[in-house]
Parts: sequence; structure tokens; C-alpha cells
Amino acid sequence: MKVYCAKDYEQASKVAAAIISAQVLMKPDCVLGLATGSTPIGTYEQLIKRYKEGELDFSQVHSINLDEYRGLRPDNDQSYRYFMNTHLFDFVNIDKKNTFVPDGLEEDKEKACRDYDEIIRAHGGVDLQVLGLGHNGHIGFNEPDSCFAKGTHCVTLAESTVAANARFFASADEVPKEAYTMGIQSIMQAKKILVIVSGESKKEIVKKAFYGPITPQVPASVLQLHPDVTIVGDEAALSE
Ligand code: GLP
Repeated sequence: MKVYCAKDYEQASKVAAAIISAQVLMKPDCVLGLATGSTPIGTYEQLIKRYKEGELDFSQVHSINLDEYRGLRPDNDQSYRYFMNTHLFDFVNIDKKNTFVPDGLEEDKEKACRDYDEIIRAHGGVDLQVLGLGHNGHIGFNEPDSCFAKGTHCVTLAESTVAANARFFASADEVPKEAYTMGIQSIMQAKKILVIVSGESKKEIVKKAFYGPITPQVPASVLQLHPDVTIVGDEAALSE
């Protein structure tokens, strides 16, 4: 596990973007596993900047996102498809046909999950998986549980996750209570993993996840077993 401590969010975003850029430069047809949440926004801004400066070409890149709320239309401004379009895809030359997010409108849960696992499999897995970290240690929407879930599955969101994500909705009642998420096995099968963490509010969970016991009660703790993980954070998130 490599840990890169940046002085602030902007610097952390630059470092994270440099790692993703290196992946795209080394393998122009790579598969990027992408994440949503407020943390990677600065990283995506830096990638857009590099693209506009002519340093990056996304024309052959494929992307597979971690998760999507169940029941939200792709054009709902709180869906993760909408997030990806408006924070990255609309501003770079990625072919949207090569970008994948779980189908939040698929009512048949088993089909939604099976289809997504097939997409991951057909792409030969993920080259570089970008992750944020939930306050309870969730990655994607893999919530604390009694075991590590393998493939894509439908989760009932933890109350604390609904509360944390309520800031993006008009009220907590509007936050979907279910989501489709890539499983821990798919995440662990990525060749490289980049975790981005920022802010004082993440310092306790960063310590627990990366320096505490490996347990499904802290889903991110399993990353300690991955052979190629880089954590990029600001001083506040890494202070413990
Ligand atoms: C959501 C997403 C996660 C993300 C987490 C943390 O629940 N499903 O992928 O990592 O929030 O978000 P933030 O970066 O806003 O703290």
C-alpha cells in the first residue's frame, strides 16, 4: 500500500489525476473503474484540464462505474450517470457508448446485477479502479455487512449513508434507499486501485480502514490485501 499525503484537496486531486493520466497514457484502451461522490470531483476537473491542454486522449478508454441508485432515471440530476456526464464525460473525448453505469431503471434486480457482471467480465476486468471512502468504510455502495459481497448486487443503503447523501437531495426522504453496486470481488480484481480521501471528517475511517483489522464491518479494510493500492489524501484526512 502506498500512501501519498498532499497538503490540501487541490494537490490531492492533482496527484490522483496524474495517476489516472499515467494509466491512460500507458494503455490508451484501458478500462477505468470510476467513482462518484464529492471527493473525486477535483480529480475529474484536473483530468478535463489535461485533456483540454492536449495531454490526454480518452477516445479508446472504456469506463465502468461502481454504482447507481435504484429507481433513478439517467437524466435525474442525482443519478450517478448524470454525475459522470456532467463532471467528466461531457468534457472529454470519451465515447459515451464505452461508459458503463449500472442500470438503475432495471426493476429485475438479478438481471441488473447479472448484466453488469457480464459487462465487467466482457471487458476483461478493470485496469485502474478509483475509489472514494464512505464515512462507515463503504466502497462503492458496499455497506458494512457480515461478509464481503462478491459480484454486483442490490443493497439497502445504511441510514448513515442516506443521511450523508441527503445533502445532494431536497430532503432525506428523496434519497433512494436502494442501489446497485459492483461487488468487493470485482473491485479486488482490478489490477490497480486508487483511493482518494479528503477532509477531517474522513480521518477516523481512514485509520480504521487501512490500519485496523480486516473485517466486512469496514468494507474498505479488505483493500489492505490488494497488491497494488495507492491512497491519495490531503493532510486532514490522513492526520490520524
Ligand atoms: C457515495 C458513493 C461512494 C463514495 C461515497 C463517499 O456513497 N456511492 O462511491 O465513495 O459516497 O462520498 P464523498 O466523496 O462525497 O465523501
